Amino acid sequence: MSKAKALDGIVAEALDSITTMKLSIIILAAGLGKRLQSDLPKVLHQLADKSLIRHVLDTALTLKPDNIQIVYGYKGEQVREALADVNVNWVEQAQQLGTGHAVAQAMPQIADDAMVLVLCGDVPLISSTTLQALCSQADANSLGVLTVELDNPHGYGRIVRNAAGQVERIVEEKEADAHIKQIKEVNAGVYTIPARHLRRWLASLNNNNAQGEYYLTDIIALAVQDNRPIYTTTTHNVSEVMGVNDRQQLATLERYYQTQQVNRLMLAGVTVRDPARLDIRGTVQTGRDIAIDINVILEGEVTLGNRVKIGPDTVIRNAKIADDVEIFSHCVIENVVIGANCRIGPFARLRPETVLAEKVHIGNFVEIKKSTVAQGSKINHLSYVGDSEVGSGVNIGAGTITCNYDGANKHKTIIEDNAFIGSNTQLVAPVTVGAGATIGAGSTITRDAPPDTLTLRRPPQKTISGWQRPTKKKP
Ligand code: UD1
Ligand code: CA
Repeated sequence: MSKAKALDGIVAEALDSITTMKLSIIILAAGLGKRLQSDLPKVLHQLADKSLIRHVLDTALTLKPDNIQIVYGYKGEQVREALADVNVNWVEQAQQLGTGHAVAQAMPQIADDAMVLVLCGDVPLISSTTLQALCSQADANSLGVLTVELDNPHGYGRIVRNAAGQVERIVEEKEADAHIKQIKEVNAGVYTIPARHLRRWLASLNNNNAQGEYYLTDIIALAVQDNRPIYTTTTHNVSEVMGVNDRQQLATLERYYQTQQVNRLMLAGVTVRDPARLDIRGTVQTGRDIAIDINVILEGEVTLGNRVKIGPDTVIRNAKIADDVEIFSHCVIENVVIGANCRIGPFARLRPETVLAEKVHIGNFVEIKKSTVAQGSKINHLSYVGDSEVGSGVNIGAGTITCNYDGANKHKTIIEDNAFIGSNTQLVAPVTVGAGATIGAGSTITRDAPPDTLTLRRPPQKTISGWQRPTKKKP
C-alpha cells in the first residue's frame, strides 16, 4: 500500500514537472540576409503585408509561452520599432557569431526549469500545429528537433541517424562529405530544449568549423554524449519550414500562403473565379454565396456579407460590406462601411471614414471621402463628395463637387433628405442644402439653399444672332 502510494507520488511528480515547465521561446532574428540585397533587415520583409518576424511571433503567441526572447542584431533598432507593440524581451547579439552564440545571448533571461523552443525569424509559415506536436513530446531530459524530408536538401543541416534510427548529430552543408550530402532528412531549425541542459551544452560549443561560427546544431551531438534522448517531429509540409533567404523564396512563400488563404475562403463557400488571382493580405470574414471575380486584393480586416459580388480589378482594404452589395470592376475602397444592397462602381473610389447606408448607388468616377450617405441616395457619375452628410433619397447629379477645402481648413457640406443637386454643381462648404431642395445645374452654391425650393446661380443664357464661327486663315 505504502509502496503503491510512493510510486503514484513519483509518477505524479514526473507529470507535474512536465506540465509545469515554463515555455520560453527564442526567436533568432539577428542575421543580415545578404541575399535579399536590401537595406531593410531580412525579418522585416513582408509576406501578405505582414513582416516575416510578425508571422513567427503571432504563431509563437498561440503557444501561450511564459516569455518570448527575440535575438536581434543587424539594424536591430528597426526591428524593435516595427514590433514596439508586443510584449517580448529584446536580446542584442552585437556580432553574428552563429546560431549557438545567438541562443546563448538569450539564456540569462531564461529560468533553469524552463523548456526552450527555438524558432527562426526568417521562417514565417511555421504552423502552430507543428510546433504543438513538437512541444507535446518535450520533457525535462530530452531534446527535440523538427525535421523535414527534402528532395533537394542542399544548404540545410542533415540529420544523421545511427543504425537503430536514433539521431546522432546534425551536419551542416559546409561540413558534409559526399555521403552525408545524400541524406534528405534535414534540420528545420526548430528545437525544444530544457534550459538547464541547454545552458551547459551551449557553454561547450566551439567554432572550429568551416564557417568559424558557433553552430546551435552541435548541441545535438553533445546531448547524445550526455545520454539524453533525441526525439524528432517530422512535418510533410515543406513550405512551413522554408526560410526566406532571397526574393525568389519570398515570392514562392507568398504564393503558397495566398493559395492557402484562398482555399480557406472557397471551403467557406465563396466562389472565386480564379484562385490564383485573388490576394488576401489580412483577414476576411465571409457570409454565404459570395462571388469574387479576378484580380481582387483584400487587405486588412474585411467583412463580406451574404451574396456580396466583387467585380474584377478591385482593391478593398478594411471594410465592412453588408449583404447583397454589388461592387463592379475597378474600385478602390478603404476604411469604409457599406450597407446592404448598395451598388458601387465601376471605377469608384471610397476613401476612409465613408459610411454608406442601405441601397446607396455610387457610380463611375465618383470619389467619396469621410462622408455619410443615407439610405437610397445616388451619386452616379463623376463627382467628389468629401466631409459631407448626405441624407436619404438624395440625387447628386453628374459632375457635382463639394468644395471642402479652402486652402487651410476643411469644411462640411450637409445635403438633407430628398434634395436634388443638378449636374455640374459646386457646393462651397460650409454649406447646407435643405430637405427637398433642388439646385439648378451648373450652380456654384456658396450660401445655404432653403428646403423645398429651387436655388440656382448661373448667368442668364443669351443668343447672339448673326455671329459667325471663325474660319481658318489662308497662308
Ligand atoms: C540553420 C541551421 C541548419 C538548418 C537551417 C534551417 C545552424 C548552424 N544551421 O542554417 O542546420 O537546416 O537553419 O533553416 O543553426 N542568426 C542569428 N545570429 C547568428 C546567426 C544566425 O540570429 O549569429 C539567425 C538568423 O537571423 C536566422 C537563423 O538564425 O533567423 C538561422 O540562421 P541562418 O544563418 O539562416 O542559418 P542557416 O544557414 O539557414
Ligand atoms: Ca536560413
